[in-house]
Amino acid sequence: MGSDVVWHAHKVCREDRELQNEHRACLLWFTGLSGSGKSTVAGLVEEKLHAMGKRTYLLDGDNVRKGMNRDLGFTDEDRIENIRRIGEMSRLFVDAGIITLSAFISPFRSERQSVRELLGGNDFIEVFVDTPLTTCERRDPKGLYQRARDGLIKNFTGIDSPYEAPQSPEVHIINDGIDPDAAAEQVISYLVANKYI
Ligand code: PPS
Repeated sequence: MGSDVVWHAHKVCREDRELQNEHRACLLWFTGLSGSGKSTVAGLVEEKLHAMGKRTYLLDGDNVRKGMNRDLGFTDEDRIENIRRIGEMSRLFVDAGIITLSAFISPFRSERQSVRELLGGNDFIEVFVDTPLTTCERRDPKGLYQRARDGLIKNFTGIDSPYEAPQSPEVHIINDGIDPDAAAEQVISYLVANKYI
């Protein structure tokens, strides 16, 4: 923070908003390769939470890159900045008392750790959508893997750009043939077991 900028504490705080919402806020951080099913599972989790009357918001890779982060590409440097901004944005949503779902490849461990720390080490729930590269490439829902293999896209995650898998995610979805609804239920069960909902 610049030395001339002073943090202003407002009277209505996160706890007040959570009380009004009648549930705790948290950040569900979905990470995984392109085509791993992050957005599908995150979308299903949000639908289930919404149906239970919980306040939610889903931030999703392609959508954020069309707006707030449209100036960023896929170099390591740009991905780091992408996740930094999304981390800050997610923190604001959590402060608003909302169950926030963020679904981004977020390939680097250190950036995911930074977001965890941004939330004070609490209420960051890492959800690893663990789909083998071979499966993602076979599905290739947007045709991007083929384009990367043909050399038409550079720095493609899993091809010529790294993905650092989580070592101890709070929720580990082994997504090789699993029903997306069962995957979403794994996340819901975590929230129930940890008294978020
Ligand atoms: S990151 O690594 O977290 O900054 O990426 P993210 O913001 O989640 O954006 C991933 C989506 O961008 C599309 N796309 C690419 N992905 C990976 N590598 C390269 N080079 C690339 N170029 C475009 C792709 O549609 C990703 O969406 P998902 O939903 O993950 O398939």
